[in-house]
Amino acid sequence: MDSCEEKRAHSRVMSLTPDLIDPDIRKAWGLPLDFYSSPEIFERITAQVLAKTWHVVGDAREVEGAGLVSPVTLLPGSLEEPILVTRDQRGLLHGISNVCTHRGALVCEKAGQMTALRCPYHGRRFGLDGGFLSMPEFGGVEGFPSAADDLARVPLGSWGPFLFASIDPSHSLAELTAEMDARIGFLPLGDARLDPERSRDYLVDANWALYCDNYLEGFHIPFVHQKLAGAIDYGSYRTELLTLSTLQVGHGRDEEDCFDLPPASPDHGTRVAAYYFWLFPATMVNVYPWGISLNVIQPLGPARTRVLFRSYVWNESRLDRGAGSGLDEVEMEDEAVVESVQKGVRSRLARRARYSPERETGVHQFHRLLLRFLTGS
Ligand code: FES
Ligand SMILES: [Fe+2]
Repeated sequence: MDSCEEKRAHSRVMSLTPDLIDPDIRKAWGLPLDFYSSPEIFERITAQVLAKTWHVVGDAREVEGAGLVSPVTLLPGSLEEPILVTRDQRGLLHGISNVCTHRGALVCEKAGQMTALRCPYHGRRFGLDGGFLSMPEFGGVEGFPSAADDLARVPLGSWGPFLFASIDPSHSLAELTAEMDARIGFLPLGDARLDPERSRDYLVDANWALYCDNYLEGFHIPFVHQKLAGAIDYGSYRTELLTLSTLQVGHGRDEEDCFDLPPASPDHGTRVAAYYFWLFPATMVNVYPWGISLNVIQPLGPARTRVLFRSYVWNESRLDRGAGSGLDEVEMEDEAVVESVQKGVRSRLARRARYSPERETGVHQFHRLLLRFLTGS
C-alpha cells in the first residue's frame, strides 16, 4: 500500500465528507470501520438520518374507524419519539405528537376509541387532530391559547397496508415509494392481511447499518443461504438502484414459485420469485407471490439492533414455497454472519473495504446516501 491508500484504508469517522466514498464504485473505498461502532456516529445518524426519513409505524387498518387513537413510539431505542395516530370523526387520519403542550406528560398511553384527548396530568384537552380544546385553571394567561398549545403535527402517510411517519422528512413519502409502486402496484396490496403467527421480532448484536449492508447484496447467498440458493437463480439475480431505494430481483428456478406478471410489467415473461425493496434508510419490503414480508429495522445502539418481521398475506395457497419460504432460517443465517462482521470491524487490524462492482452496488449506494445525509450535501 502506498501512503495515500494507507490513509484511505484507515480514515476515521471524524473526517466524514461527501466525497469520502467515490461515486465510481471501481475507485471507491467503503465506510470507515468505526462508523459501525462509534456512539458519536450513532447520535449523528439518529439526528441527521433517522429524524429526516420515513419509518413504518404500524398497520393502516388499526385506525380504520372514526375516533380511533393509537399511541406509537417512532423508532424506540434511537428517536424514541412518542406519537399518536388518530382518525377523527370526519374520517381523516392524523399524526400528532403525544407530548402534552403544558408540561410534557404523555397524553395517551392506551389505544382506543375516543372523541377527544385529555392529558391525565392536569386535564388539558385536545381534538383528535391535535388542536387545543380546553385547559382548567388557566384564566388570565395572556395570549393563551395560541398555536403553540396545539399538539405538534407529525407527517404521516400510507403505502399499501403500512403507515409511515417521520419527524422532519427531507422528502415526501411518495418520493420514497413511487418507484416501488410503479413496479409492483399491480399486486393486490389492499388484500394483504397481517399474519401474527408468521411475524416475529429479532434482536441482533450488530450495528443496524451492517444489517442493511448484508441485506443489500445477494453476493452472500450461495455461501450463507444454501436452501435459498436452491430456490433462486443466482446467475440472474440483479440489483437496480432507484432514487432513495434499491430493488433486488430474485428469479426462481421453478415456475410455480414465481409471480404471474401482467404484460405491463417490465419483468413480464421472466420468472421473478421475489422483489426485495429496501427503502432508505431502514425499511425492507420483501414481496413474494403469497404477500409481503416487511422488515422494520430499529437501531438500538452502536452494536444492537431490533428487526421486526411482519408477514402480510394475500394468497395463503402460495405460502411456504420458493424464495418466500423458510424466512426464519434465512434470518438466523443472516444474523450469524452480521454478528460475526460486528466482531470483525472492531479489530484494530481491520481496513476499509472495496466494493464488488458486479454485486455490491446496493451497498455502495447506501453508504453514499448515508454520507449525503450526514454531511448535509
Ligand atoms: S402536562 Fe398535560 S395538562 Fe399538564
Ligand atoms: Fe442474507
